[in-house]
Amino acid sequence: MRLFEQKREFIEFLDGERKKNNAIVLVPTMGALHQGHISLVKRALLENDIVVVSIFVNPTQFDNKDDLQKYPRSLEKDLEALGQVSRKIVVFAPTIDDVYGKDVQSQSYEFDGLDQVMEGQFRKGHFDGVGTIVELLLRTVQPDRAYFGEKDFQQLQIIQKMVQLKKLPVEIVTCPIEREPHGLAMSSRNERLSKTTRKEAGFIYKILQSAKSKFGTESANDIAAWVAREFKHNGMLNLEYFQIADEQTLTPLSEQKENRKYRAFIAVYADGVRLIDNLRLN
Ligand code: PAJ
Repeated sequence: MRLFEQKREFIEFLDGERKKNNAIVLVPTMGALHQGHISLVKRALLENDIVVVSIFVNPTQFDNKDDLQKYPRSLEKDLEALGQVSRKIVVFAPTIDDVYGKDVQSQSYEFDGLDQVMEGQFRKGHFDGVGTIVELLLRTVQPDRAYFGEKDFQQLQIIQKMVQLKKLPVEIVTCPIEREPHGLAMSSRNERLSKTTRKEAGFIYKILQSAKSKFGTESANDIAAWVAREFKHNGMLNLEYFQIADEQTLTPLSEQKENRKYRAFIAVYADGVRLIDNLRLN
């Protein structure tokens, strides 16, 4: 496995691989890798020659300093985990300076409203930060394909939009959500939960599944009110939002239309840690 911590050497390496006509693909991550990340890497390895996994905790996408500071960092462990998957993997783990220089700032994007709801509403500036780092990574690596998880479904739509806006020649591949045995969506932030809370957080997925079974017979408003009541009775988990929205436009569902796909989106606080999840409803 190869590790690059400097952009210059990394670009030289990539140029060499491109000359050999090797397909290069990218799996962007912020590290603290778990089986969710690994599932993306394995999928990428199946289909391509050179799989680049980037590990970079991107400061511009954090709206909360405390969350950025507490974000788990474990490069050694991550390298070990990737090494066990395949020695072919190339890791790019640059410093903040190397990525941003002295200007650690986001660009601002026009995401056609995709950034105005849910995560965008509750985490101001978050998607400009995501757009900025993903654009920078795509321009640096120039991959044929880049792999993203449905765990961050809104992020996925934002990235598709950014790629379209900037006319970047890359195919975005989407991968399903990996879950812990009791249903909690895998996340680097799960490490910050106590054992008891982590188990209890399986409740989030149970609620999403119940919302799915109610969908079609109950209105979106009634389902949302039911979800809010369920969380009121839960002493450990605090609901931030629950929203049923159109998968493509992310606009909240008011009246169900034929031939549209809908998804339930949720954000919850547990032990002061923010957890998100989503589930397709139809
Ligand atoms: P991070 O949270 O590390 O996630 C990296 C990738 O792994 C994302 O595409 C995310 O959707 C995917 N992922 C995370 N948990 C998953 C799970 N349980 N199942 C399937 N896929 C999962 O998302 C980011 O980093 C950053 O915003 C990034 C895109 C790297 C930009 O900084």
